[in-house]
Amino acid sequence: MWNYYNPVDVVFGENKFSEIHKILENKKYVVVTHPEEIFKKYTDQLNTSSNPPLMVMTEVQPNPDYLDILTLLKNFASIAKEVDHVVAIGGGSVTDTAKALAAFKGNENLLTDFVRNKKTPYVDDPISIIAVPTTSGTSSELTCWATIWDKEKNGKLSLAHKSLYPLKAIIDPVIMLDKPKGLTISTGLDALSHSMESIWNINANPVSAMHGIVGSQLIIENLPLLANDLKNITLRSNVARACVHAGLAFSNTKTAIAHNISYPITLNYGIQHGIACSFSLPMILRSMLDINDEAENRLKMIFNDDLISSATKLESILRQLNIPLNLNELKINKDEWNKIVGDAFMGERGKNFLGNKNAFDKAVDESNFF
Ligand SMILES: NC(=O)c1ccc[n+]([C@@H]2O[C@H](COP(=O)([O-])OP(=O)(O)OC[C@H]3O[C@@H](n4cnc5c(N)ncnc54)[C@H](O)[C@@H]3O)[C@@H](O)[C@H]2O)c1
Ligand SMILES: [Fe+2]
Repeated sequence: MWNYYNPVDVVFGENKFSEIHKILENKKYVVVTHPEEIFKKYTDQLNTSSNPPLMVMTEVQPNPDYLDILTLLKNFASIAKEVDHVVAIGGGSVTDTAKALAAFKGNENLLTDFVRNKKTPYVDDPISIIAVPTTSGTSSELTCWATIWDKEKNGKLSLAHKSLYPLKAIIDPVIMLDKPKGLTISTGLDALSHSMESIWNINANPVSAMHGIVGSQLIIENLPLLANDLKNITLRSNVARACVHAGLAFSNTKTAIAHNISYPITLNYGIQHGIACSFSLPMILRSMLDINDEAENRLKMIFNDDLISSATKLESILRQLNIPLNLNELKINKDEWNKIVGDAFMGERGKNFLGNKNAFDKAVDESNFF
């Protein structure tokens, strides 16, 4: 028994950004985007169109913070009631910020109640979101949740509500051609992690798992080539498509142990999300041996090999991409690592993991990690 759900209308292809004008015809909308100059060409196109946005918000920093979103909500309050769409043009940080604006519609108290007073987020008929991702990584354009960071309190929250799926996602790989190498690798590995995490997941279903397998294969086949050929549009398209499959997979399962391990590593050691949630994938893969036949068969399909050989292949791909693969390279000491792992298995995402801590610890020992 299972069910599968994802309502996002996906428009995919080179130069498909131009379709946004038709979508926004006769609509009142605001744009949320990154502050860097390279994003100006997209807002310029909208500003000079026959139907310009009511407001353009560019103050989005990577890993959107509660205090920053609070300021944006204040600015948004005056027009929130008349807005038909929030248009997000950017990476996961922008899409997640757009989700917070769409959900709380200018009401700062609702954000504070959720982040600081730990109340269930109050989301009622949010403004619809048009997402134009500029990274291929988070798949936030295909999920109904947003990550909000509270750097002052050293926390990370997930704003989740079934009404927060974007209405449309316009995925145009041409937009991603500007991504520098480091960002291309870290975001691509985030999509790999989402794909694999959807498979060793208690919430996996046959459809999500097929998306997880294809997403993983596409990243493994294309990301190492793309890292050395950043302007190659075919490789960019393949990685963008991997990210669609990843989103269609983990939107139904959520993430698992690799993500729970990653959060303190990003918060306390400053390691980018995509790196923090992917260095552990080979060890987790090894730990899945003889745990669950269905998951094992699915994982074997990624590399068309047994789990141990697959883990070795994945390690060599990560090594090729210069990902830190042991405690020394991660600059984390063994006691801290043991605490991170212990907490991760008790965490919300860790509990989605089909495997177990004993098998994981054994796989870590066998991985030259210490
Ligand atoms: N909602 C979800 O389902 C979900 C899932 C995973 C992660 N996240 C969250 O998403 C955030 C990370 O998002 P991200 O990895 O997409 O990066 P990001 O949005 O934080 O952007 C990182 C940097 O890349 C730059 N950038 C973005 N697109 C670019 C492009 N095309 N060319 C050049 N530079 C570009 C931005 O200006 C920014 O400085 C984190 O907060 C993470 O927790 C959300
Ligand atoms: Fe992620």
